Amino acid sequence: MDIPRLRRDFLRRVGHEPEKIFRAPGRVNLLGEHVDYNGGPVLPAAIDRAVYLAARSNKSTMLELYALDLDEETTIDLEILEAKQDSAGKPLPGWACYPAGVAWSLSNAGLQLSGMQAVYCSEVPIGAGLSSSAAVEMAFAVTWQAFGDWTLERMTLAKLCQQAENEYVGVASGLMDQFASAHGVAGSALYFDTRSLDWYPVPLPPDTVLIVADSGIRRSLTSSAYNERRASCEEAVAILKQQLPWIEMLADVNPEDFDNYQDHLPPEVSLRAQHVIGEIERVGSAVSALESGDCERFGMLMYAGHASLRDLYQVSTPELDMLVEIASRIPGCIGARLTGAGFGGCTINLVEEHQAQDFMYRLKAGYLEETGKETNIYLCQASQGAGQIEG
Ligand code: GLA
Repeated sequence: MDIPRLRRDFLRRVGHEPEKIFRAPGRVNLLGEHVDYNGGPVLPAAIDRAVYLAARSNKSTMLELYALDLDEETTIDLEILEAKQDSAGKPLPGWACYPAGVAWSLSNAGLQLSGMQAVYCSEVPIGAGLSSSAAVEMAFAVTWQAFGDWTLERMTLAKLCQQAENEYVGVASGLMDQFASAHGVAGSALYFDTRSLDWYPVPLPPDTVLIVADSGIRRSLTSSAYNERRASCEEAVAILKQQLPWIEMLADVNPEDFDNYQDHLPPEVSLRAQHVIGEIERVGSAVSALESGDCERFGMLMYAGHASLRDLYQVSTPELDMLVEIASRIPGCIGARLTGAGFGGCTINLVEEHQAQDFMYRLKAGYLEETGKETNIYLCQASQGAGQIEG
């Protein structure tokens, strides 16, 4: 990121230098997809593509926002957030609901927020499954924390950002994305038990890299399809609970019990639940594989995770399937799968470092040949979580 340029943009728009600059990363998820709202474990990693936010307190109740990538601006009165309007009474544009939502959930938690001028830009592509929205939310959360005289645990900040997304923006997402943006550790994936909220870093295999390939497909139906999948999981729990009264979430159902009772579920609901239960097992095996240095096994679990998202959870697309298939044939590819909610977006590939350039070249060329479409490919590092970087 060109921080001097962000400073210049701030000066041009605001007429002063920023006081502080913050960064909050996007994430990839290596395994454990659609598991976070079912109480299971996930294995994301924060990446070195992030949102950067330059800010200056304006000693008022106004939040003056400038989104550089969109070339848009708006002003919001922090005392009138519920109405989702700008300071002139017009409905808030969608992009502004993320910072406004964070302000809303922080103030509901009784925290003091200062008005500020905030200029921000993102290296995380929007709507690509790399959690650009969680990165924006976390960037604002750490900014308000730095300007306020309060400090919260990172997990609490992440939960308040999730609340902003669930209740203010209206997407029923789990906690994984905000967790990863808040807790990232350079060079490591993060094992996160979404029920107990325990977590620890799991170092990625040496001499490997993470490569993200963007299918370029964006689905506008993402939030409704996501909410539908979530509803199917809840339906599965409600039905299975008749036989297994102690269960609260799908993570409570062990695979043997599921085999015994899955016939009680409507066919589609059964497929969804089968994915979740298998995926929870895969995360456990994947962590053991990483800890014992069994890279090949880890890669096989990534491929199996993709097949399950494609066939059982049904959130893949032909383009994502094609990216995974092409990747699997390229030397040096250890594992590949779609990452994030699906319905378009990106794949994540674990690749031997010395083959990375060749892999990227071949994947791009293969995708163009098979689909006639371009793909953006990013070489990523697992990075540290959100925080202040200057000022
Ligand atoms: C989105 C949500 C996450 C998670 C993933 C799927 O990224 O924001 O909470 O559910 O989809 O694993």
